[in-house]
Amino acid sequence: MSNLKFIGKSSVRDNIRLTENPKYPVFKNLYIKQKKAVWFPEELNIQQDVLDYKSLSPTEKDLFDSAVGYFASSELLVQNVLGNGFWPFLTDPYVKMSFTAQMFMENIHSDFFEIILNTFDMDRKRVYNITLEDKLLMEKQELIIRAVDRITYGKADPDSLEGKKQILTSILLNNIIQEGLFFYSAFAHFFAMKDVGKMKNVVSGVELVLIDESLHLQNGIEAILTIIEENPEIVDDIKFVENIRDTIIDAVELELNYLKNKFGGTTIFGVSYKELEQYMKYIADRRLEELGFDPQFNIPQNPLKFLQKEDVKKIVNFFEVSNTEYQNF
Ligand SMILES: [Fe+2]
Ligand SMILES: [Fe+2]
Repeated sequence: MSNLKFIGKSSVRDNIRLTENPKYPVFKNLYIKQKKAVWFPEELNIQQDVLDYKSLSPTEKDLFDSAVGYFASSELLVQNVLGNGFWPFLTDPYVKMSFTAQMFMENIHSDFFEIILNTFDMDRKRVYNITLEDKLLMEKQELIIRAVDRITYGKADPDSLEGKKQILTSILLNNIIQEGLFFYSAFAHFFAMKDVGKMKNVVSGVELVLIDESLHLQNGIEAILTIIEENPEIVDDIKFVENIRDTIIDAVELELNYLKNKFGGTTIFGVSYKELEQYMKYIADRRLEELGFDPQFNIPQNPLKFLQKEDVKKIVNFFEVSNTEYQNF
């Protein structure tokens, strides 16, 4: 078995043989789950939602367009972060296979949102520009971009304590905060549409995206926990640990500002800001717990009724992921 740690400097000649007893079996399992989850957007019938889209009210249309615009560029942002950011530091073959499976699915997701843009009467330039023109949406992406740009192209040393912290922070921002918080917020908007009987075929694709994202979230959580286990000196720095917690709570604040601005005092697709606020806090507590922290907000249960339905739970639990995962929604 290789002596290389989870992150480090390796040669391309290292770790090119799979073994019967992988060093990180959880990543072999995650690779297999992602492989089984592969789907293709062409198999969906989203053309059947064309009339629905036309019938949306201006606020409904704005929410739909914003969610599509946000995902359309964020999917390839995740791809860039994986490819340029922390993939070069990974050493183990099954870990690499799990993260490249994720990268492949980011292609599929990007492809899916591109098909949506082309199917409905949407101004693609305007929709793509949503993340540049809406300062609150842009900040959600910039948070990740700033951290990851600090570690690309050899700028971080995975053997130094500082480098390890920077790499861990980038995984946190990408796979936990972007995919596990910000994306989950937008998922709720789509599920709300389905609950009022709109855009059902698009939402069936989003359900598949959600299954993938729950696996990407697990990639991130397992990566962070493994890096800490192998490099316990990281958590000797209490300030750094507090900073991880604060980063998650600050991201919730950022998301709430966005939602407050979008929803104001109104209800869109039957959902209010107040419910989404509680939902975000509920999700954030799950993320904190998954990383070993105490919860912050203590919301007793998911406030969005349509996410408590059995069919949604089944989607989230599709691959018999852990109990913690079952509680995510
Ligand atoms: Fe994705
Ligand atoms: Fe993802």
